[in-house]
Amino acid sequence: MTSEFSDRRVLIPGGTGGVGEGVVRAYLAAGAQVVVPSRDERRTAEFQRILGDAATDRLHLVVHDYTGFDGAERLAAEMAERLGGIDDVVAPIGGYWGGRRLWEIDAKDWQDAFVGLATTHAAVMRAVVPRLGPTGTYQIVAGESGFRPVPGSGLLSMQQAALLMMRSVLEAEVADRQRVFALVLGPVRTRSIGDAQPDWITPGQIGAVAVAASASTVAGREIRLPDPDAAKQALALLRDGNSRPTTKSAEAVSSRPGNEEG
Ligand SMILES: NC(=O)c1ccc[n+]([C@@H]2O[C@H](COP(=O)([O-])OP(=O)(O)OC[C@H]3O[C@@H](n4cnc5c(N)ncnc54)[C@H](OP(=O)(O)O)[C@@H]3O)[C@@H](O)[C@H]2O)c1
Repeated sequence: MTSEFSDRRVLIPGGTGGVGEGVVRAYLAAGAQVVVPSRDERRTAEFQRILGDAATDRLHLVVHDYTGFDGAERLAAEMAERLGGIDDVVAPIGGYWGGRRLWEIDAKDWQDAFVGLATTHAAVMRAVVPRLGPTGTYQIVAGESGFRPVPGSGLLSMQQAALLMMRSVLEAEVADRQRVFALVLGPVRTRSIGDAQPDWITPGQIGAVAVAASASTVAGREIRLPDPDAAKQALALLRDGNSRPTTKSAEAVSSRPGNEEG
């Protein structure tokens, strides 16, 4: 895998987060050049510390605000100029929101949990897609709440549903030029969870699926990852599949019932 990925340039906005950590580690271990932007200098330093020896010179941690159209455009332009292009994007941007029913939200909730995050995803997408190489992948990370309502967390559900539709539209629009995936997660055993919840999917398993999607020729799709078993199935599909896998194997990956959050 290392030689195959040695020239691959991967952008991971949201890479400093709990899910992002597993994705960053997986691409670094595969040999890629990995760009991780963060809005916060302290968070960047903390992430470097968390990665330890995994933070090789192929990791490019940059303090950069990409949450608006101009900032995302500058990020993509600088990455393309410095590394010579962009091959893959994996976007685990944004975390949990909850605690209020839909009619209880205020203007700040609406801005933070819906408008702000939707804008950030759209900004990255519009800056990067025209620059993605022909074998590239665009991978959106979302949660099952995008298709399963979670009372008290409705803004998150609405925003995740919008992301899943963004993937579908994007796939239709880029046609055969690039592959667009959504990794749709159940609850994740991030570093803040520690060893609790052994049945939850881990960031490492999610990262392995993302790398396998980049390495494969399987067509873009929604990949549901409710738990570790689903991650194993997804890896089998991505590693063994070719450009148009059978409906049966695609269904095995994309229609498993899952847990709840995210
Ligand atoms: N954790 C779970 O159990 C779970 C389950 C299902 C789905 N998911 C999905 O996985 C993705 C990542 O979740 P996570 O748990 O890794 O979240 P997290 O730990 O809170 O990390 C979120 C990342 O997004 C970045 N970000 C950029 N713009 C943001 C904004 N406007 N608001 C908040 N964060 C922003 C942050 O980067 P900087 O602060 O460094 O700039 C941070 O690295 C989300 O789409 C989430 O819905 C997670």
